[in-house]
Amino acid sequence: MKKVALVTGAKGGIGSSITQALVDAGFRVIATHHPKSEQSAKEWIKENNYSAESVQLLPLDVVDTAFCKESLTALLEQEGHIDVLVNNAGITKDTTFKRMTAEQWNDVINTNLNSLFNVTQPLFDSMCQHGNARIINITSVNGLKGQFGQTNYSAAKAGMIGFTKALAAEGARSGVTVNAIAPGYTGTAMVEAIKPEVLESIKAEIPMKRLAQPQEVAAAVVFLASDAAAYITGETLSVNGGLYMH
Ligand code: CAA
Repeated sequence: MKKVALVTGAKGGIGSSITQALVDAGFRVIATHHPKSEQSAKEWIKENNYSAESVQLLPLDVVDTAFCKESLTALLEQEGHIDVLVNNAGITKDTTFKRMTAEQWNDVINTNLNSLFNVTQPLFDSMCQHGNARIINITSVNGLKGQFGQTNYSAAKAGMIGFTKALAAEGARSGVTVNAIAPGYTGTAMVEAIKPEVLESIKAEIPMKRLAQPQEVAAAVVFLASDAAAYITGETLSVNGGLYMH
């Protein structure tokens, strides 16, 4: 029987590559999407020719604690357990701190950080009871190094790393590993939204002089999800072309 991976924000830039790579590695993927984007999620399934045995959609508002609890509890009843959870959903609302509104701050903290509580909590106990499970959190180079214009995003992404280490300590005795992947600037719509001249100056700072491909991030997810990574926990794996070495 196929192992089951739940990926949040699965049809997004990095999320869709993670989904594809997990499918290729033999997982059945439960792909979550915002309840408002059901139509585009269905189109994404069609475009990729995913069968029900390879990818199944699950509407999930990751900022809504009660929604997540109800929906993921029902999912567990149906599935028994989840082998791999990839907390990938994330947004940016970039602006300098002096211009940042409370809404821009809260939206990014809620979607990128508070979602970890909302999505992981309903699944964690079952993962511990079953054992040999994986939680993989997609953080960012900017959570490690800080980025001009991203106090909200850098704070949330750094918070994800603290969460990863603390939960790794709690999951270890049950064989539940908890790791983070910190992509650098990756060729997705999120990065393409940066003003061209700003993006050029960012690229110039990257030792490899190019963006990451989403597939390069997805490959790290597949590795951490594999049996080969069973003894790695609490780690943050950078995929950043040398942009930040720590
Ligand atoms: N360090 C120091 N100063 C900087 C700077 C930096 N990195 N970037 C800009 N500045 C300075 C500018 O030189 C400018 O100074 P002057 O006023 O003296 O000319 C001033 O700050 C204002 O800069 P902008 O003209 O860019 O200001 P803006 O208000 O038009 O835009 C911004 C602000 C939206 C934050 C814009 O700078 C920006 O988009 N920066 C990039 C943010 C970024 O990297 N986002 C990543 C998105 S992708 C992602 O998040 C995925 C991931 O995980 C990597």
